[in-house]
Amino acid sequence: MGIFIVLEGIDGAGKSTQAKMLAKWFENRGYEVVLTKEPTDTAFGKLIRRLVLIGGKEGIIDGARISKEAEALLFAADRAEHVKKLIEPSIKAGKVVISDRYFYSSLAYQWARGLDLDWLINLNAFAPRADLVILLDLPVKESINRINGRSIRSEFDKIVELQKKVRKNYLKLAEKFNEIRIINALAPVEDIHNDITALVEHELFEKAED
Ligand SMILES: Nc1ncnc2c1ncn2[C@@H]1O[C@H](COP(=O)(O)OP(=O)(O)OP(=O)(O)O)[C@@H](O)[C@H]1O
Ligand SMILES: [Mg+2]
Repeated sequence: MGIFIVLEGIDGAGKSTQAKMLAKWFENRGYEVVLTKEPTDTAFGKLIRRLVLIGGKEGIIDGARISKEAEALLFAADRAEHVKKLIEPSIKAGKVVISDRYFYSSLAYQWARGLDLDWLINLNAFAPRADLVILLDLPVKESINRINGRSIRSEFDKIVELQKKVRKNYLKLAEKFNEIRIINALAPVEDIHNDITALVEHELFEKAED
């Protein structure tokens, strides 16, 4: 069996940056790595990006055009494809799967949108839990500074209040799901990478030897 690691955190926390570095780290150690993300690059994922994340004419500004429930179901449909077609087969093949966001994002964001947490957990029950979830935690103010320069800003990162709620939700989820580990994402990129690899070694390699 392979290893399944997830990077989580608010918009601009550094997930994509750290996911790439972690993938390289594993590759340098001879592992076969599958670096993936949610929403995915499949038709479902593209639909979500068009409808939910980008906004504009066809988009949904602050959930005005599509119900919160439908939004959650779209993310879950994309995830079901992701799990069945890529994540599960890759883990079974002994690979290291690193996902930039996963169902923990749905819990944190859609819960912040006002959906019931248990409803969301049940909806996502088909999705296997990760071996390790790295939660990159930082104040919303800092994350906004980091993503300010982006040309397309998603609906989510326009709304500071929502981001604050999402950050709090992630921290609450860390108490509920014991695979979640909190990393201080305010540090320089290289320091965070070192913290993450130390965590991976401790949680996935040293403990496995016990
Ligand atoms: N530790 C860091 N310190 C300062 N800047 C950083 C750090 N990590 C990442 N950045 C920068 O912050 C920006 C956001 O990083 P990144 O795209 O990795 O975040 P993300 O969590 O993937 O964001 P999103 O949720 O929007 O995809 C990038 O411009 C990146 O270069
Ligand atoms: Mg990213």
